Amino acid sequence: MNQRELFLQHVGQTSTAPLALEIAKAKDCSLFDINGKAYIDLIGGISVANTGHGHPEVIAAIKKQLDDYLHVMVYGEVVQSPQVQYAKLLADHLPAGLNSVYFTNSGAEAVEGAMKLAKRYTGRTRIIAAKNSYHGSTQGALSILGDEYWRNAYRPLLPDILHIDYNNPNWLHQIDTATACVILETIQAEGGVIAPDKAWLQAVRKQCTETGTLLILDEIQAGFGRTGTLWGFEHFDIVPDILLLGKALGGGMPLGAFISDRKIMMCLTENPVLGHITTFGGHPVSCAAGHAALQVLLKEQLAETVHAKEQLFLSLLNHPQIKQIRSFGLWMAVTFDSFETNKKVIDRLLEQGVFTDWFLFAASSFRICPPLTITEAEIKKACERICAVLETL
Ligand SMILES: Cc1ncc(COP(=O)(O)O)c(C=O)c1O
Repeated sequence: MNQRELFLQHVGQTSTAPLALEIAKAKDCSLFDINGKAYIDLIGGISVANTGHGHPEVIAAIKKQLDDYLHVMVYGEVVQSPQVQYAKLLADHLPAGLNSVYFTNSGAEAVEGAMKLAKRYTGRTRIIAAKNSYHGSTQGALSILGDEYWRNAYRPLLPDILHIDYNNPNWLHQIDTATACVILETIQAEGGVIAPDKAWLQAVRKQCTETGTLLILDEIQAGFGRTGTLWGFEHFDIVPDILLLGKALGGGMPLGAFISDRKIMMCLTENPVLGHITTFGGHPVSCAAGHAALQVLLKEQLAETVHAKEQLFLSLLNHPQIKQIRSFGLWMAVTFDSFETNKKVIDRLLEQGVFTDWFLFAASSFRICPPLTITEAEIKKACERICAVLETL
């Protein structure tokens, strides 16, 4: 069997129609398959490769850490410099109330940890989440996922969860003194890049504060410059009680984190002790890679380049087949009249050397969230190819 057949036979599958590109190499904003064909990467591993694939400073940090040590002990017991340095760098670039970083393996594990922390800190059980939200695929994260199709097969899920309409002020009164937390994506990702109204998000913040409810913002896709500021919440002049990070956090290595004030985080240390346990969370190689990637992001001022690149995309993606483009920074949902049209476009773009995909809850839109390092020339080339494909419809 060739490699592709072995993949289909022995690697657990998530759908009956995987893209199944055979990747040989990834560099900057390009993927290369085993035949040497190059693809412009318009999805960056889904908001992971914000500093580009294989940035030399990230690779150097990984190599150094490989020589020093790999896993030495379960999370939290020994002082590991890559974790400490990265937690400090994150805290230095976050508001004062977000100063304690709990590293996990993944985004979903960060979501789980944050939900547990909110229950512990408030002594309450009710969790409010939004329709069309995506927070991961573990059972706790599935319980708050905002789409019945995706969660129904796994019932019973966590009790005492309320799903509300994103951007709708009518349910604000539901945030009350029985609510442990409200968990929202700062900008909804899988709904197809849906931004909150500033006044609404601020009202949510206010109601949480008044009722002693923790506000958790999931920036697992929105963080690390994607929206044009380092953190998505900066656009709305609010600060969450708990911030969730993942994806680009690890600079291409697996890593997640939930971040809060130390006084909240300390709840996990007693009664019972070890409130969240993870063997590999905050793996030293992942932290070394993430630390280097954030330094690159800051040094190269990548967030500052986002607005101009977004505008270039928007000016070039001008075609009657496109019904709408929702965008927030280098993060776009290009929308057609139907799923069928969208699928045709995505498939033909792949043939033309442009790599993209769809959103979980926006079947007629394709995703643009490239490495923030994408160049003007690459944007022009990608948009030329997209418009040429649209001519073939
Ligand atoms: C907004 C958001 N939250 C949470 C997650 C879960 O992260 P992970 O896949 O690392 O568990 C994702 C993953 O796509 C996400 O987009």
